[in-house]
Amino acid sequence: AAGPDLAGRHVVISAGGTREPLDPVRFLGNRSSGKQGYALARTAAARGARVTLVAANTALPDPAGVDVVRVGTALQLREAVLKAAGDADAVVMAAAVADFRPAVYADGKIKKKDGQEPAPVNLVRNPDILAEISAERAREGQIVVGFAAETDDVLANGRTKLARKGCDLLVVNEVGETKTFGSEENEAVILASDGTETPVAHGPKEALADAIWDRVAARLARRTA
Ligand code: PMT
Repeated sequence: AAGPDLAGRHVVISAGGTREPLDPVRFLGNRSSGKQGYALARTAAARGARVTLVAANTALPDPAGVDVVRVGTALQLREAVLKAAGDADAVVMAAAVADFRPAVYADGKIKKKDGQEPAPVNLVRNPDILAEISAERAREGQIVVGFAAETDDVLANGRTKLARKGCDLLVVNEVGETKTFGSEENEAVILASDGTETPVAHGPKEALADAIWDRVAARLARRTA
């Protein structure tokens, strides 16, 4: 394992999946367990970083020595990440954030009515938090890392996403109903804004996390050099 190469650094990590409520009992959600984000938090702490973990709807134990902020929706996640990012050396967006939320929240449970078709669910866009952090950089030289969860044309979609989001690194992984979501292992290609592409072989989520921190630490060292 790497030494304390993140000592004196503050890193912010988002993990888990947002839930966008329709009414007090229902939501639109996704299959993220938070395991990849928690692995990033544990490994960053082991490498000496001060860690803020913004956790959306996870059921995992708090990593030792990590400041955990719990959120539910994409809007709450945005607020918590932007607040923590103010003095962060690096921000890693591993959370699965809903691109859309229901346009209307019903204060009471939505009822089915005899003889009536169900009402359509209208959606509105959520803000793109990764694009916003990348464009605005709360600190000069802040390193911003995103993930891309893809089911088809994984690498091609990842390359397009890197350009669109404007982050420094984009970790491209393939997902499916039982692939990557909730599992202990992952494999990915880390795309960098300088055009380099680094495959990380199938292995524990901690191994991918360490490969990401290797690249973040190198960029931070270059910044202060
Ligand atoms: O949690 P696990 O069960 O361990 O699963 C891990 C994982 C598959 C969730 C994780 O490895 C992963 O891929 N996370 C990103 C999921 C995602 O939302 O991907 P995306 O391709 O839809 O989004 C691209 C990037 O933009 C992500 O960094 C995401 O956090 C960010 N985003 C997306 C939408 C939005 N409105 N705001 C954002 O910031």
